[in-house]
Amino acid sequence: MGAVPEDPTAKALPVTALAAVGAACQPAGMSGRAKRTAGADLREGEIAVELPAGADASLYFIGRIHTPWRSRDDCPKNGRESDAVCTIELDPRWIAGLQGLETVSHVLVLYWMDRARRDLVVQAPRHYAERRGTFALRSPVRPNPIAAAVTRLVGIEGNKLSVVGLDCMDNTPLLDIKPYFASTDSVPDAIVGWHATRKR
Ligand SMILES: C[S@@+](CC[C@H](N)C(=O)[O-])C[C@H]1O[C@@H](n2cnc3c(N)ncnc32)[C@H](O)[C@@H]1O
Repeated sequence: MGAVPEDPTAKALPVTALAAVGAACQPAGMSGRAKRTAGADLREGEIAVELPAGADASLYFIGRIHTPWRSRDDCPKNGRESDAVCTIELDPRWIAGLQGLETVSHVLVLYWMDRARRDLVVQAPRHYAERRGTFALRSPVRPNPIAAAVTRLVGIEGNKLSVVGLDCMDNTPLLDIKPYFASTDSVPDAIVGWHATRKR
């Protein structure tokens, strides 16, 4: 097979283009980083966009996740921050789909952050000093608020799975459960540059 020609559209978006995108949106006021302001409900420098008129697909919530956390502030920032055992309650119609999962040590859980806004493209998360693009963050605030966590499977009883490694509020909708393959999912030398050098 011949060499694949370079795809000019695959090049990284230049910083100037990113600036233009930002200018076309609506940044919040620049005076003092702080709480989300009333009305626009944006933190300093955050940018919101108008959402598309309609959705392109629909999905099924296949269960609910039960955790000890009732508010965002109670939740761990990520699944590694807590060793709480949480319960994934699968809609019984899907129970046959668990066959074989009892042999798995770690489970990739996908869930729907149902209490997150969906219109921010630039965010100032509570825990970081600087603004970043939504797709450079693990924030629940995103156009499709899908969250992911690699969890340790403690046990399965009927339609209930006990797992360690979640970070969501109680009753968060469940989207999917998949076995975690260390052989293909793990990238031990992966880097997130801004996180390594972040100011707190
Ligand atoms: C930073 S996100 C990470 C989620 C997931 N581990 C990921 O990386 O995709 C976790 C935070 O989302 C927030 N959160 C938890 N459950 C939520 C829900 N149902 N709706 C909106 N936000 C939620 C909490 O503030 C929690 O600390």
